[in-house]
Amino acid sequence: MDTSRPIIALDLPSAGHALNFVSKFTDEKLFVKVGMELFYAAGPQIVTELKDAGHDVFCDLKLHDIPNTVRGAARSLSRLGADLLTVHAAGGRAMMEAALEGLHDGGSTSNVIAITQLTSTSQQALRDEQLVEAPLIESVCHYADLARQAGLAGVVCSALEARAIADATAEDFLRVTPGIRPAGSAVGDQARVATPGTAASMGSSAIVVGRPITQADDPVAAYHTIRAAWQSGQDT
Ligand code: C5P
Repeated sequence: MDTSRPIIALDLPSAGHALNFVSKFTDEKLFVKVGMELFYAAGPQIVTELKDAGHDVFCDLKLHDIPNTVRGAARSLSRLGADLLTVHAAGGRAMMEAALEGLHDGGSTSNVIAITQLTSTSQQALRDEQLVEAPLIESVCHYADLARQAGLAGVVCSALEARAIADATAEDFLRVTPGIRPAGSAVGDQARVATPGTAASMGSSAIVVGRPITQADDPVAAYHTIRAAWQSGQDT
């Protein structure tokens, strides 16, 4: 799994849109993320199609249910050959362990990472909507440690939390960071954002970038600019 490439979030409405989008990159092998929008529209075969085309695939379905159901879902997903999968840490340790069991039953070696707090969640929403009085960073580090105890490979987190998570878990515990915005680009619905260069210097292990690439006038150029900043740690 080569995380020196930004992971492109293919939040697109159909298999046709997704395959057309990746075809703009001609011979380049990408690391793409299939989330709920595309997976539910195009079906599981979009993952195998992208894999067959030589791309790495992050299947971001954020599983969150009782352990038995998540075990079964993970067993079904194991057939697709995704490189990375997500579950919600809020589902609990037993649920995260069940996800690993389901994948293992299906013979898959996919890495599983946990969502801690969505990067669209602010400190105020944590307090007012989840009734959690703890600082956001404490909630995130607590969930990260729970995920590590369950045997997961890492977490999805904001760049602003990456260093604290590495300190609370281990340096090789993956910190996969969405909410990436090149300087001056639209934040949209994200609350905890960072530039690619900042994410690199703050200890993210991988970055996930959606709209700044998919909605760009020239997605290939936008991808290369963001990749250069991520790899060098210097925003242009
Ligand atoms: O378009 P944008 O760059 O905001 O896309 C970010 C992607 O990362 C989306 O696909 C979103 O679902 C995903 N994500 C996120 N925050 C999380 C976990 C996943 O934004 N905590």
